[in-house]
Amino acid sequence: MKRVIVDHYGGPEALKVVDGDAPRPGHGEVCVRVLAAGVSFTDSQLRAGTYLGVPRPPFTPGYEVVGVVEEVGLGCKRLHVGDRVASLTVWGAYAERVCLREVEAVEVPHDLDPAHVTSLVLTYMTAYQLLHRMAKVKSGESVLVHGAAGRVGTAVLELGALEGLRFYGTASARDCAAVERHSAVAIDYQREDFLVRVRELTGDGVDVALDGLGGALSLRSFRALNSRGRLIVFGHYSTLVGGRRSWRGWAEWYGATAIVGLWGAVSRRKVMAYRIQRLHKGHQWIPTSFGRAPLVGGGPRNTLWFHDDFKALLALLRADKIHPVVAERLPLSEARRAHELLGSTAAKGKLVLVP
Ligand SMILES: NC(=O)c1ccc[n+]([C@@H]2O[C@H](COP(=O)([O-])OP(=O)(O)OC[C@H]3O[C@@H](n4cnc5c(N)ncnc54)[C@H](OP(=O)(O)O)[C@@H]3O)[C@@H](O)[C@H]2O)c1
Repeated sequence: MKRVIVDHYGGPEALKVVDGDAPRPGHGEVCVRVLAAGVSFTDSQLRAGTYLGVPRPPFTPGYEVVGVVEEVGLGCKRLHVGDRVASLTVWGAYAERVCLREVEAVEVPHDLDPAHVTSLVLTYMTAYQLLHRMAKVKSGESVLVHGAAGRVGTAVLELGALEGLRFYGTASARDCAAVERHSAVAIDYQREDFLVRVRELTGDGVDVALDGLGGALSLRSFRALNSRGRLIVFGHYSTLVGGRRSWRGWAEWYGATAIVGLWGAVSRRKVMAYRIQRLHKGHQWIPTSFGRAPLVGGGPRNTLWFHDDFKALLALLRADKIHPVVAERLPLSEARRAHELLGSTAAKGKLVLVP
């Protein structure tokens, strides 16, 4: 069986293809033949060693997978050989075969393109849960989204339009048109001051700010909120510069995140942190919160949320209401090239490995 490994923390050259034995399912696990494994910015953080809780090399990256069940382990109750499933693996999906915990696998209809479905597992799920589980948006609310032309950003714009939200999206000049196609106000982050623009356009600030980039940007995102606004910090994009770990980026990220958390604690505005990865290995999804945001506990309810939200996304895909775009399908042997393409293709859609 072929799989990709991260040989050492580093740039795309750290990815190597190796041969080995196929895995066998343990208790409560199913083994799937991988049909599609998504390639995401978060994978590059794992590769570079900047992801919180990253395993030590060598390990197989791959946050999200769609596959067909080939073997069912003892103790499984729901899934059968031949079922098509998706799962948030966090790491391990860049392989021809992978074992999944049955409880974390969600059923996928056979007639949908696995590459499109892969986009629902991390990218659209993140966007959906940010809007509905964290911000709990209401029709007509205003939302500032950073990296609006990127993969999560585009999914946020698409899902938010269905709820009648008003968007202000930061993007680079070349991607502003893509943001405007989703009826959002585009703000060129390299030439404009988003805080000034947002205040000009809204008067008192936005109801919600979604910040997947982090660092100093979070401080200004907080200031873009109106008096009852909610800021959700969900990434540390700024800790990776040119595909490699930036210690300065880390220091800035920790400093800014601590400050913004403190601001949230002493103001009426809420500050929350979101990490989809908490679903992994039954840790569940626990949105840690700062300030007055409620601390929602983990537990089976949050796994159910993942299942429920995935079903909701499948229904939207079927109803032609969301349109995940696949930028390129690549074989496992081109995992390195996929990572090299990540930075330059954010507005073009998802990169998917098809073993
Ligand atoms: N917490 C979670 O559970 C979770 C889940 C999924 C993703 N994430 C995080 O969410 C973030 C976005 O992920 P993604 O997959 O959407 O990445 P992506 O597809 O690479 O998109 C990132 C976008 O941000 C833009 N950007 C970069 N610097 C910017 C700045 N200073 N201001 C405004 N926009 C800027 C980039 O545009 P240019 O390249 O043109 O600059 C790009 O379009 C990442 O940090 C990722 O780790 C977190």
